[in-house]
Amino acid sequence: SFLGIDLGTSGLRALLMDADGAPIGAVERHYSVSNPKGGWSEQNPADWVAALDGAVDELRKTCPAFANLRGIGVAGHMHGATLLDETGAVLRPCILWNDTRAHVEAAALDHTDQVRELSGNIVFPGFTAPKLDWVRKHEPEIYARVAKVLLPAAYLNYYLTGDYVSDMSDAAGTSWLDVGARDWSPTLLAAGHMRADQMPRVVEGSDKAGTLRGDLAAKWGVGADVAVAGGAGDNAAAACGIGALQEGQGFVSLGTSGVMLAARDGYAPAPETAVHTFCHAVPGRWYQMGVMLSATDSLNWLSRITGQKPAELTGALGATLRDPGRVRFLPYLSGERTPHNDAMIRGSFTGLGSDTGRDELTAAVLEGVAFGLRDSFDALSATGAQIDSLMAIGGGAASRYWLRLIATILGVPLTLPGGGEFGAALGAARLGLTAATGVAPDEVMHAPSVKETIEPDAAAQAQWAEAHAAFRAAYPAIRSVQ
Ligand code: XUL
Repeated sequence: SFLGIDLGTSGLRALLMDADGAPIGAVERHYSVSNPKGGWSEQNPADWVAALDGAVDELRKTCPAFANLRGIGVAGHMHGATLLDETGAVLRPCILWNDTRAHVEAAALDHTDQVRELSGNIVFPGFTAPKLDWVRKHEPEIYARVAKVLLPAAYLNYYLTGDYVSDMSDAAGTSWLDVGARDWSPTLLAAGHMRADQMPRVVEGSDKAGTLRGDLAAKWGVGADVAVAGGAGDNAAAACGIGALQEGQGFVSLGTSGVMLAARDGYAPAPETAVHTFCHAVPGRWYQMGVMLSATDSLNWLSRITGQKPAELTGALGATLRDPGRVRFLPYLSGERTPHNDAMIRGSFTGLGSDTGRDELTAAVLEGVAFGLRDSFDALSATGAQIDSLMAIGGGAASRYWLRLIATILGVPLTLPGGGEFGAALGAARLGLTAATGVAPDEVMHAPSVKETIEPDAAAQAQWAEAHAAFRAAYPAIRSVQ
């Protein structure tokens, strides 16, 4: 069997898969994020290890096939900085992807010569390099002791193998990797005041990174030769889970953050669009994505302040698409990446009237997120990415109304995967399989069955295009008064 681990922001999911690629069992463990100051977001790596140990214990008890474990793949939330001293001990809590404390350092690095050219991306405040520059300035005694910097997935690789190894797809989100050359860049490391010996070895996500430590193998009751794959950042792993490896394949994910991802056969960076261009978790491929920071988070916010569950809010809108309303919502509750690269902007409602009720607010929130996704779609299209249809995944995909709206505003059909597993944990297990067996990634990473296709409402598209233009115009205006 093969184990896929998805180290998420709110919890860890461990999935066991058989040799034919079919899921056998899955368990989850949760942990928290701490926000010691506004804009800060941290996690204790010991919580990840405890979650993994607990999940494995449960899988062992419930799935006899665990004893035949042959390969493991780890996917993780990206960009986090886990700092280790020379003994491998953690120096401070991991600074997460959604932590914006390093926005000053990010802007400075982003304006440094060759940084965008080599890394292929804007240096966003959530990326790893600016975090280390922040630590250099604000916690010099810790910075001086940093022997290794590991991304969250690479930290679990270290726990599993005892070796410092990261995969390319995750390493691409550091601003230290030459994303075209798929290797650490001496120029970028120097710009970020880091040394090559502080970096883990990089391997392809689908290649073998190492072997499960002997003491863990004994404790888990598995053989001595369990392969651990390079693994992946969570978005690349999700792409492996839904079979999006080649040009034209992609997904839209309605999670806390909203991600629109397109697989690419070649390397076509376009940092000026605020699109992310990263290595894929398989050799010779890249992917591009637009990231919006508050997707279901926007609806969850409305849910908190109205005291109604998200499903109640969306359910009250019925099944038929409303026409674009006068109320507009800018979904920038935590700032925005694509297309604005603006950590400081915050959200807003405009066009409120004395007749505005809860349902108009709900509709505006769903529309605002859909417009934000349209911005990512336009940014991706500007890089030459071809998007003919997208698979819709993530918690927000439970709302038909939202999906219909997004399909109409994007002007592309959305497909819904049939039941079963298709997320980052499955992608990670598939990487474990390729690493252990040498089977080619294309042979394992199939698309799930499609249970439904949501078509755009062609007749309504013109009015939504007009409403999107108004949404675009609102950002600079709101920006100027914040
Ligand atoms: C991608 C990103 C998030 C995290 C958390 O750039 O920051 O999608 O990977 O899931």
